[in-house]
Amino acid sequence: RALFRPIHQAAPPSPTSRRTKISVIGAGNVGMAIAQTILTQDLTDELALVDAKPDKLRGEMLDLQHAAAFLPRTRILASTDYDVTADSDLCIITAGARQIPGETRIDLLQRNLTLFKEIVPPLARHSPSALLLVVSNPVDVLTYIAWKLSGFPPNRVIGSGTNLDSSRFRFLLADHLEVNAQDVQAYMVGEHGDSSVALWSSISVGGVPVLGQLASDDNKAAVVMEQGVLERIRKAVVDSAYEVIRLKGYTSWAIGYSVASLARSLLRDQHRIHPISLLAAGFYGIPSDRKVFLSLPAQLGRSGVLTVANVHLTDEEAARLRHSAATLWELQQKLDV
Ligand code: NAD
Ligand code: LAC
Repeated sequence: RALFRPIHQAAPPSPTSRRTKISVIGAGNVGMAIAQTILTQDLTDELALVDAKPDKLRGEMLDLQHAAAFLPRTRILASTDYDVTADSDLCIITAGARQIPGETRIDLLQRNLTLFKEIVPPLARHSPSALLLVVSNPVDVLTYIAWKLSGFPPNRVIGSGTNLDSSRFRFLLADHLEVNAQDVQAYMVGEHGDSSVALWSSISVGGVPVLGQLASDDNKAAVVMEQGVLERIRKAVVDSAYEVIRLKGYTSWAIGYSVASLARSLLRDQHRIHPISLLAAGFYGIPSDRKVFLSLPAQLGRSGVLTVANVHLTDEEAARLRHSAATLWELQQKLDV
């Protein structure tokens, strides 16, 4: 006996109601934090997981599938074969080595370059129209590598970049000012990690600029922050990941939410501004023949990077950004991509 009876003249599925598919490559700490955030936030109809370890992968897939009664309906697939990713709208790459205490992100480069040569070509072949979002470290150089290996146009290849650093920045500023981090607007740009650049002039709370110079206009609403406090907060942002890795071995939850926010802006065509790693050649004095990926605030939508925000950088901030670009460029010259 059928469980349900069909209704008469059911409307055929609308040709515009296309299903959304996200693939996550790497089912480790970061991949699974991203997967579970994507599921709880109902960002896709289909989620495909790929990893090199079949048992771990199947275990993770089953564990997520067993939460079906508590989650929006999403088809969850997993395989070591890239067939499972076919026709993805968004491919998120988290596979690869991670830092152990004492290592920098750059120390991972050679190991993860080798993996990306195995991962990116089949991914691009199975989903030639997808957006690629790189999370593995060092994220800026690996985004450049993913761009080269995929042959995709640069607007469709982005790195999670300083979206995470900016969240850490906003959290620490909010904590200091005793306000809600969601009311703090503040950007970190440049390289994700050690040489990231804090844009002091971007900081505002509920529309009120935070920098001291406004106070000199007798603007009582402006919150004055000492240069020393700002520098302490910037340093704390840069040290954040090292502290978490020393304490728990890896970072996962914050990057999970950070990437889910990017997935939402991209797939739901939100036109929101996020600091993400993009092809930065030609911006802020970075020579246009230096094809480096660095984070700048950019508007994201269904076709990827839509525009780059024309933010004000002080001479010092622009110089720091160009210094990051030069460092990454030198590293890239030594790579066999
Ligand atoms: P992890 O060791 O927990 O997971 C890595 C996974 O990659 C493992 O499950 C492993 O089996 C898989 N893998 C290895 N080779 C593979 C291959 N060829 N194909 C498919 N899968 C493969 O590590 P993690 O903690 O999840 O970190 C993953 C990466 O994310 C690291 O490079 C880390 O530095 C980076 N990360 C980046 C950010 C960011 O802000 N960009 C934040 C946190 C971590
Ligand atoms: C982060 C990683 C390690 O959490 O890049 O910043």
